[in-house]
Amino acid sequence: MIRWRLAKPLRERIRAGHPWIYDRALALAHAPACAAGDVVEIADADGAVALAFADPASPIRARVLAEPGTTLDAAWTRARTESAAARRVRDPLLVGCTGRRLIHGEGDACPGLVVDAYAGEPPGEQVPSGYAGESGSETTAVIVFDGPAAAAFWRPRLPDVLAGLERGGVAIEHAWLRMNQRTGGGERGGEAVRGDPPAEIAIAEDEARFGVDVRRGQKTGFFLDQRDNRRTIRRHAAGAQVLNVFAYTGGFSLHAALGGAAHVTSVDVARPAIDALARNVALSGLALDAHELVAEDAFEFFARSAARGRRWDLVIVDPPSFAPSERARPAALTAYRRLVQHALEAVAPGGRFALASCSSHVTEADLLDIVAHLTPVARLRASAGAASDHPVLPAFPEGRYLKFLFFDLA
Ligand SMILES: C[S@@+](CC[C@H](N)C(=O)[O-])C[C@H]1O[C@@H](n2cnc3c(N)ncnc32)[C@H](O)[C@@H]1O
Repeated sequence: MIRWRLAKPLRERIRAGHPWIYDRALALAHAPACAAGDVVEIADADGAVALAFADPASPIRARVLAEPGTTLDAAWTRARTESAAARRVRDPLLVGCTGRRLIHGEGDACPGLVVDAYAGEPPGEQVPSGYAGESGSETTAVIVFDGPAAAAFWRPRLPDVLAGLERGGVAIEHAWLRMNQRTGGGERGGEAVRGDPPAEIAIAEDEARFGVDVRRGQKTGFFLDQRDNRRTIRRHAAGAQVLNVFAYTGGFSLHAALGGAAHVTSVDVARPAIDALARNVALSGLALDAHELVAEDAFEFFARSAARGRRWDLVIVDPPSFAPSERARPAALTAYRRLVQHALEAVAPGGRFALASCSSHVTEADLLDIVAHLTPVARLRASAGAASDHPVLPAFPEGRYLKFLFFDLA
């Protein structure tokens, strides 16, 4: 096995659970070459530190898999994914939700691997009382690799990934492997690796219902990570005029309506997302006449609304990642500043404002700083991250990519 020497004193950090080893932390000048996904031993002067898979084309040159000496065989893969599934099965926050993340990459000690599961439910059925997959409906797993090295490592192990999830308590009838630009195309954007995944799956999230398009939808079809924050919005929506910007298929909009919002305006630049939102309103048994659906760029919408003096009691802003890399950070901060300024102008006096960011390169402190400089009246009521099925390793702050801040403006 190829051995890569650490050039920095990282033994303790890696042993504490930090799973990424950057190129600059390795002495690679005379290191033997290896292919993406090959297993390498990471060592320092005192001997072996960890096993990792190599990513020769990335600044994150290696991702830690296991202790030195571990046999990375089928039993190892199954044990990892079995415990990830078991954590979900015993999670009370997932009761009543038939969409769940089963494997959250590094957070579940499976670096570079994401598996979401969607259990279908015929529209109009009662809210399930058990966990996803236990309602007797079929479950589709959607698999995503974070880059070519993760694909090379995990792809041959997929049968054992699925076998471990099943042993952990999640029956999987269908599995769809989604390809993206980084992991190679595929004409249909992916391929079935088990069964025949349905084109659309109607999932339950508490009393809300969402159609999930696992082939063409964003992410794996749904933003599961905002589940608990949608529940927060639901608890604050009673009687409110709500504006949900970057609405996608209506996650926050439907929960606001279920929480008793008087009226909900939803904005997203993607017409297919807005069309799906309209279907989801009906699927959830809600009246469409309490919803205004707008397919438009958020900044143009805000400018138009400001010109007309429109205001809402509760404004939610959940943009896409403006900072995919550290280099994009300054431009991203400028975009957030513009966005927050627009959003604050749209909040009625005494109203509330929820701001999310899904970029790990923009911190909660950055967002608080932006809000503080734009208004003296904001009071932080709640601060949260991703939902409970997106676990974070304490030694890996980079894993805390999602921030959700909820303010009173009074
Ligand atoms: C992070 S997702 C929102 C997820 C959503 N809050 C949910 O709970 O499902 C961001 C959304 O912003 C939309 N978007 C991207 N750029 C936009 C723009 N300039 N104006 C409006 N929407 C935009 C995308 O289509 C996507 O649906």
